[in-house]
Amino acid sequence: MNIEDLRRLARARLPRAVFDFFDGGAEDETTLRGNRAAFERVRLLPKVLVDVHAVDTGVELFGARSKLPMAIAPTGAIGAGRHDADLMLARAACAAGIPYTLATPATNSIEEIAEQAGGRLWFQLYLLKNRDFRMRLVARARAAGYEALLVTVDLTTGGKRERDLRNDFAAPFVPTWRNSRDVLLKPAWLAGMARRGVPQMKNLEGMLRKPPRLTDVAASVGRELDASFSWDDVKTLRDAWPGKLVLKGIVHPGDAERAAAAGCDGVVVSNHGGRQLDGAVATADALPAVARAAGSKLTVLVDGGVRRGVDLLKARALGAEGVLTGRATLFGVMAGGEAGAKRAIDILAGEFERALMLCGVARAADIAADLVAP
Ligand SMILES: Cc1cc2nc3c(=O)[nH]c(=O)nc-3n(C[C@H](O)[C@H](O)[C@H](O)COP(=O)(O)O)c2cc1C
Repeated sequence: MNIEDLRRLARARLPRAVFDFFDGGAEDETTLRGNRAAFERVRLLPKVLVDVHAVDTGVELFGARSKLPMAIAPTGAIGAGRHDADLMLARAACAAGIPYTLATPATNSIEEIAEQAGGRLWFQLYLLKNRDFRMRLVARARAAGYEALLVTVDLTTGGKRERDLRNDFAAPFVPTWRNSRDVLLKPAWLAGMARRGVPQMKNLEGMLRKPPRLTDVAASVGRELDASFSWDDVKTLRDAWPGKLVLKGIVHPGDAERAAAAGCDGVVVSNHGGRQLDGAVATADALPAVARAAGSKLTVLVDGGVRRGVDLLKARALGAEGVLTGRATLFGVMAGGEAGAKRAIDILAGEFERALMLCGVARAADIAADLVAP
């Protein structure tokens, strides 16, 4: 019926450590909950007696049409839950006519996705310490035809994710009594892993001294991040990337102004889904000020806590061009593979279309600030 149902199905299928890695946030998870609460707090002022018999849910994102004001957010290491989850999500996005973002620590490679998924593809770049490797990833994404580079800037170090630490998810999976029992109780997941082994972070092959096993993700990728990267370095990326350049992880209006001055095309208002700084502002709360600072200079997207189609409408009314979905679509693919990913998008699309009709807005492109109750 809804995204929460898909979340429940995903939880039933996955070992607890894996589900918690997807579902959890940093420390007390106040920002994780805050993201959702902020979307729920937004109240709408619907208009009536508008002809909405045929609504148009499509908008322009970065100068090209998307069937929804939505793209799929980058989520790394999701092969821990299902082999080829990246590819399944990318194919579902292609079928739905929305862009897909592949994460740096994905378990399908840049080239695999480009060759096998189709559709509009964006690549998310982590600021890895190894500069040559970082620039090689950029070159690979460019050669493979990705249209946008989303540079994640809110990960100077890994967040303190206590669920992962308690579950030993960060370190190689220790077969404790509790882990083993948990894994044995999830036969569908176990069969996939037994058949094809633990997936690797294919984009990072060759960077780490030992092969990057999935279970090392939090520990090893966290150590490989460049905490000294600053605005001066954005220029290097701007020079190397002719496509759309987007900074992901902006919540401060001043940073949106700097992003525009640095030649970026867009920003994603994001706190990494509450997985980094616990205490960071909720993204729906931060969005209006960032959108005002961005003016017409930047495309503004927002993520964090999107679980209902009406959130797409709220995001646009608050000043974003569209949203990214992290967990909403991730729960879909974990619950039911490619069909589950499609189901998640369909649920959000259906709810969004209904919200447009009930708000008296015939075209998603016409959603405006006057729909938000003061
Ligand atoms: C399991 C998981 C892995 C993630 N991996 C990445 C990543 O590799 N790179 C990145 O920029 N963001 C990553 N994120 C953050 C998402 O891109 C996005 O900002 C966040 O999930 C949005 O919040 P939502 O899940 O409430 O929609 C990840 C999120 C989750 C849940």
